[in-house]
Amino acid sequence: MVVGSGVAGLITALRLAPLPVLLVTEGALGAGGATAWAQGGIAAAVGPDDDAGLHAQDTLAAGTGLGDPRVARDVAAEAATIIGMLRQWGVPFDQDAGGKPALTLEAAHSRRRILHAGGDGTGAALIRTLAARARASGTIDLAEHCSAEDLLVEDGRVAGALLRRGGTLAPVAARAVVLATGGIGGLYASTTNPAGTWGSGLALAARAGGELRDLEFVQFHPTAIAIAAAARRDAPLPLASEAIRGEGGVLVDDLGLPVMSGVPGGDLAPRDCVARAIWKHMEAGRRVFLDARDALGPRFPRRFPAITALCRAAGIDPVSQPIPVRPAAHYHMGGISTDRRGRTSLPGLWAVGEVASTGLHGANRLASNSLIEAAVFGRRAAADIRHTSRPCCLPHSGDRLTALQANAPGSPAIPAVEAELRRRMDDAVGVVRDRDGLQTTLAWLSGLRDTSAEDGPLRRKVEVALMITAAALARTESRGAHTRRDFPAADPGWARHQAVEPERVRPAARPLTVLSLGDQPA
Ligand code: SIN
Repeated sequence: MVVGSGVAGLITALRLAPLPVLLVTEGALGAGGATAWAQGGIAAAVGPDDDAGLHAQDTLAAGTGLGDPRVARDVAAEAATIIGMLRQWGVPFDQDAGGKPALTLEAAHSRRRILHAGGDGTGAALIRTLAARARASGTIDLAEHCSAEDLLVEDGRVAGALLRRGGTLAPVAARAVVLATGGIGGLYASTTNPAGTWGSGLALAARAGGELRDLEFVQFHPTAIAIAAAARRDAPLPLASEAIRGEGGVLVDDLGLPVMSGVPGGDLAPRDCVARAIWKHMEAGRRVFLDARDALGPRFPRRFPAITALCRAAGIDPVSQPIPVRPAAHYHMGGISTDRRGRTSLPGLWAVGEVASTGLHGANRLASNSLIEAAVFGRRAAADIRHTSRPCCLPHSGDRLTALQANAPGSPAIPAVEAELRRRMDDAVGVVRDRDGLQTTLAWLSGLRDTSAEDGPLRRKVEVALMITAAALARTESRGAHTRRDFPAADPGWARHQAVEPERVRPAARPLTVLSLGDQPA
């Protein structure tokens, strides 16, 4: 069973063939979660002046001491093979005049190594191609509009999941479960992530007793388009890709002064440095803009068609106007701990993509390393499952989802509380944190959890937010994307990962058993 249908879930499911797979996806297949919104591209050292060693080196430098060199080397070395596989599957990467993949530059990469498709539509092109392939595969059964409510654990092994479609719950057995549920941006008011990315996979793994780590490391993309609050309501902020700065765009404030002058790396400094610099300007009452008029001007719409449309929808013409920008929660470096095969601490459970903490990103992810990590680990996890699982003899029983009586009404939405949670995460667990803000938020979240009678999505969001906040409070230093106003320097004593004890969030024991096929759920 693969839960999640972004690039990580789809590649895992496709590479599991000939094993039968149940692919569980919250929306319709092809929506693609955060992958479909990925603009910049996918990093791979395929240029003539590049090699995997340089890519690994840049990845580790961005990760500020917490990246795992073996994982960085693995991913960089396998990247070219992954690109070959994706091209063979039909992903239409943009080409240069000589018919080679067109390569762009993004922050903190020492070479042009970002492949892209449709200019700035890389994620959407990937999802279209992979989803079509999954539909045609013959080995993948789809459970669309369906989510995993809990993992089923038997004798210490993950043995399936309790699936929900609408008001219907069904336990479904599986020899191997792969979580590919994405990130946590939806826990923040200012995020570039689609709604629904709130750490559901983290909640599933934690509740089953799996190890999570480094949850304090949340990456804030420096250049979300700063749409006025009244116009955006609770919607995510559209992104203005880092590739715009790779093509020469610059950050200026409302006085026209450069934002990044004096910061090593300038406009192409690592993402955490740029986000902090913009935040500092905003705290000083300035507005910040991404100005691509000189660098791209009339070429902007051809190179960045999707971003042009997003800007124009917000009333901004990027050809003739600077784009107002601000940092927004974008990517979670922390996640479910895995080894180099994507195995979690729980037998029977693998995690791939953003929900996983493989060790690649350390404290700060290098731009465009997320899609390549998702693809490499999807392929690795699938290979591991193929080699270690006995052939599956159980039918998927996905049909039972439609056949069952509606017996579990969805929990009522509590939008006001959720809006408050997201606002508090922005304020206290955002680009810059301190003890007072973190402690106050932790107390508020704990109170909410302890008084909440329901055990639905809100409670799970609170649990995930609690774990992130507690981890941020515990790490008394600044490193990578985790910036503490009260501990502004990196502390060599903290040059280590931080595991989260799932016991802190596990709810009162709820018996989970795999029902044999034909049984009705309890
Ligand atoms: C971007 O295009 O700036 C985002 C890509 C990424 O998050 O790696």
